[in-house]
Amino acid sequence: MLKEYIGIIEKELENCFEDSRFFIHQEIKEAMAYTTLLPSKKLRAIFALETCKVFSGSYENALGLALGIEMLHSQSLIHDDLPSMDNDDLRRGKASNHKVFGEATAILAGDALISYGAQTILEKTPENVDKETLCKVLNAYLTAAGAFGIVGGQIADINAENKKITQEELDFIHKYKTSALFELAITSGAMLGGANSQEISDIAKFAKAFGLAFQIRDDILDVISNEEELGKTIGKDAKANKSTYVTFWGLDTAKEKLLNLLKECYDIMDFMGIKSNVYKSILEKMEIKK
Ligand code: IPE
Ligand code: IPE
Ligand code: MG
Ligand code: MG
Ligand code: MG
Repeated sequence: MLKEYIGIIEKELENCFEDSRFFIHQEIKEAMAYTTLLPSKKLRAIFALETCKVFSGSYENALGLALGIEMLHSQSLIHDDLPSMDNDDLRRGKASNHKVFGEATAILAGDALISYGAQTILEKTPENVDKETLCKVLNAYLTAAGAFGIVGGQIADINAENKKITQEELDFIHKYKTSALFELAITSGAMLGGANSQEISDIAKFAKAFGLAFQIRDDILDVISNEEELGKTIGKDAKANKSTYVTFWGLDTAKEKLLNLLKECYDIMDFMGIKSNVYKSILEKMEIKK
């Protein structure tokens, strides 16, 4: 189930980097492809495809969206790891982008991934999708990518280092730096699957709860997991004096809040009558027992 989706997404992403337009510069292509094609969970892309399928019975309409989101997500990781941001040398089990290609190329590769992601949505969304829906999806992508999305969250995250912040400020960071992409994947996947406005607003609640749960889990794993399993440096939030759910609430309460949010996700699924085994299997994998 998840494996099948991952296989499809990996193959399609590889195709994207075989595009002959990259003749213009090999190094930028290699840097863009390097982080994007490293093995990863592909959760946002899977959510885009599966949500489209939930509403329409097939995922094809959301293929361009899923690929674009993986590019945008990879960009956010490349820039997140830069020395001026989280200064992280390990990503997806390998050297971070800037450690391989240098800082200038990593910055440019990230920039190029944002625009190639948007272009991929336009170029790979099937003709049968009406142009109004496509415009809405593209606008949602651009919103998530910029100051009203990840960028807004990341600047708040950086500014909150070495500071005491409120619960509201912490939720703002998590909402914009992380939830924004899950909200994009799920609500745009729903739009491409022909969901009506009530369904879109209901599934958006699922996406918000999931997005927050995902970042809380990431905060917890930074404390209790290990490098082999996560493929990234552990303990770096504490080292950078970051504000996280663990520093704010402590480990036990953070775990409790994670489980409550996952419960909220199941409740929304029940309420909406969504039976997806893919959703269920993702939610199960998110659990961290107390
Ligand atoms: C990492 O996301 C960034 C966060 C929002 C915490 P993932 O944990 O989904 O990373 P990959 O894509 O599997 O590498
Ligand atoms: C995740 O923040 C948000 C983005 C990368 C945009 P983190 O800084 O916690 O992500 P990791 O832990 O480095 O993957
Ligand atoms: Mg960060
Ligand atoms: Mg980081
Ligand atoms: Mg983290």
